[in-house]
Amino acid sequence: MKQDMIVILDLGSSENTTLAREIRALGVYSEIHPHDITKEELNQLPNVKGVILNGGEHRHVDGKDIDVLPEIYEAGYPVIAIDHALACCEVKLSAYPTEEQLKDFVFATCKAEANWNMKNFVADQVERIRSQVGDKKVLLALSGGVDSSVVAAMLIKAIGKQLVCVHVNHGLMRKGESESVVEVFKNQMDANLVYVDASERFLKKLENVDDPEAKRKIIGAEFIRVFEEEARKLEGIDFLAQGTIYPDIVESGTKTAKVVKSHHNVGGLPEDLEFELVEPLYYLFKDEVRACGVELGLPHDMVYRQPFPGPGLGVRCLGAITRERLEAVRESDAILREEFAKSGLDQKVWQYFTIVPDFKSVGVKNNARCFEYPVILRAVNTIDAMTASIEQIDWAILEKITDRILKEVPNVNRVCYDLTPKPCGTIEWE
Ligand code: XMP
Repeated sequence: MKQDMIVILDLGSSENTTLAREIRALGVYSEIHPHDITKEELNQLPNVKGVILNGGEHRHVDGKDIDVLPEIYEAGYPVIAIDHALACCEVKLSAYPTEEQLKDFVFATCKAEANWNMKNFVADQVERIRSQVGDKKVLLALSGGVDSSVVAAMLIKAIGKQLVCVHVNHGLMRKGESESVVEVFKNQMDANLVYVDASERFLKKLENVDDPEAKRKIIGAEFIRVFEEEARKLEGIDFLAQGTIYPDIVESGTKTAKVVKSHHNVGGLPEDLEFELVEPLYYLFKDEVRACGVELGLPHDMVYRQPFPGPGLGVRCLGAITRERLEAVRESDAILREEFAKSGLDQKVWQYFTIVPDFKSVGVKNNARCFEYPVILRAVNTIDAMTASIEQIDWAILEKITDRILKEVPNVNRVCYDLTPKPCGTIEWE
C-alpha cells in the first residue's frame, strides 16, 4: 500500500468529515470508522499510522455513553482523543485541535508521510479491488453520471473484462449522452459493456401519466426491472459495483459509518439476486471523485458535468410525455449547453437546462399563424441545492440562445427565461 492512514473513530462527533478533510488537506489519507471497531479490524486496515478518537455531542446513545473497545489502546498505534478527554491516551486534548496540534500528532507523533494523492489512491484501490474480487465477475449499472463513470474507469483498470457494465438508455437522456458512454467506455476503454436501448419501453409505460411523482416512480421501477433482466442473462456474477461516495454514508451524527458491507440488496434489487458490494469511491468526497476520474483518464466533460436528475428529461417534459415535446426538450437543452460552453458559462453556472410545458401559445412563423410549445430556460447557482439563485445571463447570450431554439427546434414558437429563485420555485419544474 502506498499511502499512510490516520483513522478517525467516530464517538458521536458531527465534525468527522471536517476532520477527515483537514487531515487529507495535510496530504495524509484519513478514514472514519465506527467507535466499536475491534483491534483485529483496525489491524486489517492498510498502513494505519495513528488513531483519533473523535468525541462529540452525540456521544450518548439511548442514555448510554459510547466508547471504543479497551483493546484499541493495545493495537500499537498512537492515539489521541479530542473533544472529550479519555483515559489512556498518549496525548490528551480536550478541545478541537488547531492545525498545529493536528500536524504535530500526524507528522511528529504518528510519523505519517504526506503521500496522499490521487495517483496513490488509485494504485491502492486497484490493489484492494483485485484482492477482493479475485477472478470473479463484477456488475455495474453505468448511467454515465460522474460517480458511476469513475467507478467504471477504476474497475476497468483493476480487473478489465471481469467488469460487466450495463448502460440502460431510458430514452430520457440528454442528446449524445448514451452515445458518449458507449464511445468512452466501449470504444476507448475497451470495456465489457452491455448497451440496452429501453427507450420504447419507458415511453410506453409513461404514456398518459401526468403526475410528476407517478412519473418518477415509473422511471425508477422500470429502471430496476430492465437492469435486473439484464443481470439475470449474465452468468457467474458475484459482485455488484456501486458509486457510493463518502457524503452518502457519513455524518449520520450518532452511530457512525459502516466499515465493510456485504451481501446487501441495493436499490430495490430482489432478494434472490445476492451480490457482494464493491464500492471503490466509498471514502471519497465529490471533488475527490472528480480528481480521481481525471487521474483515470476520463474526459473532462464527463467528470465535470452538471448534476442531472435520475429521471432525466422526463421531469423536464412537463405532464404526460410526448415524443414531440421530448424532442423539443432534448434539442433545446443541447443548444443551451452548446452556447453555455461557447461563452464559458458552463464553468460558472451550477445547473442549466430547458423545460417544455404541456401547453401551446399562438405565434407567427413564415407569415402564418402557428400554435406551438414554449421552451423555458433555467440557469441556477447553489451550494447544496436546498436554495438556489438565478444566474444573470448576459442579454446577448439569451438572445442568441432564443434565436437558435426558434430556428432549430421544431414545434417551438416562444422562449422564456425563468427568474424564480429557490425558494419558492424548486430547481426542476416537476
Ligand atoms: P429540486 O428540483 O428539488 O432539485 O430543487 C434539487 C436538485 O436535485 C435534482 N433532482 C433530482 N435528482 N432524482 C435525482 O436524481 C430526482 O428525482 C430529482 N429531482 C430533482 C435537481 O436536478 C437538482 O439538482
